[in-house]
Amino acid sequence: MTEPAVDDPVWTRKHLLGLADLTRDEIEFILDTAASFQEVSTRSIKKVPALRGRVVVNLFFEESTRTRMSFSLAAQRLSADVLDFSAKSSSTAKGESLRDTARNIEAMGVDIMIIRHPSAGAALDLSQAVDCCVINAGDGQHAHPTQALLDLFTIRERKGRIEGLNVAIVGDIAHSRVARSDMRGLIKMGARVTLVGPPTLAPRTFEQFGARVVHKLDDVLPELDVINMLRIQKERITSPVFPSVREYVQLFGFDRKRLARCKPDVLIMHPGPVNRGLELAADIADGPQSTILRQVTNGLAVRMAVLFLCQQAAGKGR
Ligand code: CP
Repeated sequence: MTEPAVDDPVWTRKHLLGLADLTRDEIEFILDTAASFQEVSTRSIKKVPALRGRVVVNLFFEESTRTRMSFSLAAQRLSADVLDFSAKSSSTAKGESLRDTARNIEAMGVDIMIIRHPSAGAALDLSQAVDCCVINAGDGQHAHPTQALLDLFTIRERKGRIEGLNVAIVGDIAHSRVARSDMRGLIKMGARVTLVGPPTLAPRTFEQFGARVVHKLDDVLPELDVINMLRIQKERITSPVFPSVREYVQLFGFDRKRLARCKPDVLIMHPGPVNRGLELAADIADGPQSTILRQVTNGLAVRMAVLFLCQQAAGKGR
């Protein structure tokens, strides 16, 4: 792997809190850096010394399989020491605040904090409370920047470009931090984004971000290059948003019949976890158009890039 030039001025941020403030050049730089890190995972000894002597802590206040393990492994591949924090077995269960918890952990000499939290704005708040780097691993419905970056990486890898592609994000847009971050990243990179779902889950207010909103999936299927299916975020829904699961599957579930109406090279994406048989039929999730596991693989290189670039910017006092 060729490490990016230390003095490259494209990336100067020590935190990654969302994609809203990033420029297209910055996003491209992360994707290019991730591409250069991909090779590390093909070696017999899958490690580089980029973060040797640095300490990375995973502060997860919400469940996670992919993001948590991916960040841990990414940090280990960069030779960092990794601490795992579990909210349930920590002193937050005794009433300690997020800021106090973070400051106490930082006092042990932590360089990078990765936070997942149920409250929107928690990552920003943390970045204002500590001196170390802060990376947002998902805050409420607000943002999930590394998921969006790995989605962009996967689209670019499979399609050779992002500019000009027709990308649909389907399902529970309203409660999804992935939809918000994906939409911002895709639009910045020049894709045309269509948000699809029932009016309760895909309200027209999202048009203000530059996306198109439609309520009938079947109307747009033939024009799409990429379809990103989302999970219904049951944990964030407090009142009914569609009449029945059966009706939802009929109108918005993606199955073989719908695939037959798409372009032959359409990509079917999903950030996981998948509810098989609800938003996505099992044979589609496991089929040749599905990028689900490739997204997870690419997430590792993307998170290595984000950890490396933020730490490098922090080292320059930014
Ligand atoms: N895509 C994603 O964020 O998955 P996890 O909740 O398992 O981290």
